[in-house]
Amino acid sequence: MDTDTQKLRAAERALDYVEPGMKLGLGTGSTAAKFVDLVGARVKEGLDVLCVPTSEGTRAQAEGLGIPLTTLDETPHLDLTVDGADELDDALRLIKGGGGALLREKIVACASDRMIVIADASKRVEALGRFPLPVEVERFGLRATRALLELRARRASCGGDIRLRENRYGDPFVTDGANHIFDCSFDPIPEPEALADALASVPGVVEHGLFIDIATAAVVAGPDGVEILGKP
Ligand code: 5RP
Repeated sequence: MDTDTQKLRAAERALDYVEPGMKLGLGTGSTAAKFVDLVGARVKEGLDVLCVPTSEGTRAQAEGLGIPLTTLDETPHLDLTVDGADELDDALRLIKGGGGALLREKIVACASDRMIVIADASKRVEALGRFPLPVEVERFGLRATRALLELRARRASCGGDIRLRENRYGDPFVTDGANHIFDCSFDPIPEPEALADALASVPGVVEHGLFIDIATAAVVAGPDGVEILGKP
């Protein structure tokens, strides 16, 4: 089974946890997009759900599919968020933000009773950090923020290349929140909790892509089938 099919299998399985009347958070990325397509198909069949997208990209997709949307201002509490991840470990700690949506993804997931991660088997790791950790930063004072980020990360035993993410034109990537992203190659991250605290202590850091104690379950599809981690 190729990776794309694994993503689809994970998305299909996660749909089992969606119930009529639910308020849902819709994730961002290629795996989450498959889930959004499936939700859209169910909505066309009459499923009653109200959804909050985690990015402008997901909003456009969901609107195109006719999925009823709301905002966290109108609906601050959600039942369930289903989203992808760049990495997940056995403790359901995640790295997210490869698609640049980590800030809204974290806000939406934390506004939800449950967050189910959907992923292909390649995303599962023993130690987080192989995927460069995205850190969303305020545009003001970028170089100062980067220097402090490097210093504080070192105190959490994390060193490595820190790169300002660029778009396809070679300009700094701009998030939906109008910020930039540093991709931090901290492989491995020995203590994700310590690094999360260290990053959160840097004033220019808006949010980081470590999701700790947020995901309640994961649906991971591999070549031999689907595995459920945690309690969906
Ligand atoms: C976007 C994310 C995505 O969930 C993550 O990058 C995984 O994407 P994909 O399903 O395309 O591999 O965090 O900000």
